[in-house]
Amino acid sequence: MIELINCNQGINQDKMTTVANSIRNGAVVVFPTETVYGIGANALNDEAVKKIFVAKNRPMDNPLIVHISNNDMLEEVACSISNNEKLLMKNFWPGPLTIILPKGKVISNLVSCGLDTIGVRMPSNEIALALIEASKVPIAAPSANVSGRPSGTAVSDIAFELQDKVDYIIDGGMTNIGLESTVVKVVDDTVKILRPGAITPENITSIGLNVELDSHLFSEARKDEKVESPGMKHRHYAPNITTIMVYSNNDEKEYHGICKIIEENTNQKIGIMGFDENKNKYNNYPNVTFLNIGPKENLEIIAKNIFTMLRKLDQYHLDLSIVEGVEKKGLGLAIMNRLTRACGYHVIEL
Ligand code: TXA
Ligand code: MG
Repeated sequence: MIELINCNQGINQDKMTTVANSIRNGAVVVFPTETVYGIGANALNDEAVKKIFVAKNRPMDNPLIVHISNNDMLEEVACSISNNEKLLMKNFWPGPLTIILPKGKVISNLVSCGLDTIGVRMPSNEIALALIEASKVPIAAPSANVSGRPSGTAVSDIAFELQDKVDYIIDGGMTNIGLESTVVKVVDDTVKILRPGAITPENITSIGLNVELDSHLFSEARKDEKVESPGMKHRHYAPNITTIMVYSNNDEKEYHGICKIIEENTNQKIGIMGFDENKNKYNNYPNVTFLNIGPKENLEIIAKNIFTMLRKLDQYHLDLSIVEGVEKKGLGLAIMNRLTRACGYHVIEL
């Protein structure tokens, strides 16, 4: 039987101990992190890790991130950590940064999907930290959503799709950041960004390291192409309807581009996922529903809203949806990465 644990008003230590003991013994638990909700299990236990793949219907070639709460655990899960990797940890842990490291021996091979590397992250969310600390084992946890669907930033968004498949759901309210962690791999002096997130390229260069963006952040990898991160090959964040991004750094051009699509499709029910500033611009079109994703100048709010809004798009029974874009700078890089993938790389740039 699944149990829902409400930690909105703070951590209940007794309950936390119960869940931590269960997770150590093989249970699967949905828990909040500062980025998105995770679906976690004991990273040292094959059977438990297998349950995550089944619950998410996750392809067996897409490795999981291991979550730790202290440096002793780091020694356990990874080895040969370089000075630049230590510098990243010192500056950005605990926090929304996953570092791909040489894998330690104790971690289940299922977690890494047979790779000799492992993604490691020390989250800053206090419920996540308390859970890992109390369970005394590293916790393997991908985002808590069925594979291919948008990640979960609130329990109400994901409970129905995961409730039959997990032992506990810990509700910690809406997640702070709303987008998954930045995933990086360090090669000599260069930090390669495999997935952009709230730790931005600008944050990383500010501590004296070079940054390189992976070439697949905004383009689809071919089936036969070798990629640095298996997740790049899988369909992601997709609403169930055709979704197109229209973007220009000139607001007028973007507006006219969107109007053109609406006028070419007057017999279709269209949803626009756009910015607060534009919410009244399409009032003249009776076939358009506007979903407000937040003020264009406040990327933090937009980041928080993206996944809930992508899920909402499906509830309007639309024929087509159009998404507005932002500049690929700072947090805007991560926002555009998620939106571009949600659109299946269908982007009209004007
Ligand atoms: O913020 C987050 O990272 C959330 C929370 C729960 O911590 N987790 C998350 O996990 O987003 P997931 O599984 O949805 O995304 C992990 C990404 C995938 O794209 C996967 O391919 C990549 O990290 N990854 C994991 N291990 C890897 C490895 N050894 N080498 C390259 N990429 C790896
Ligand atoms: Mg995910």
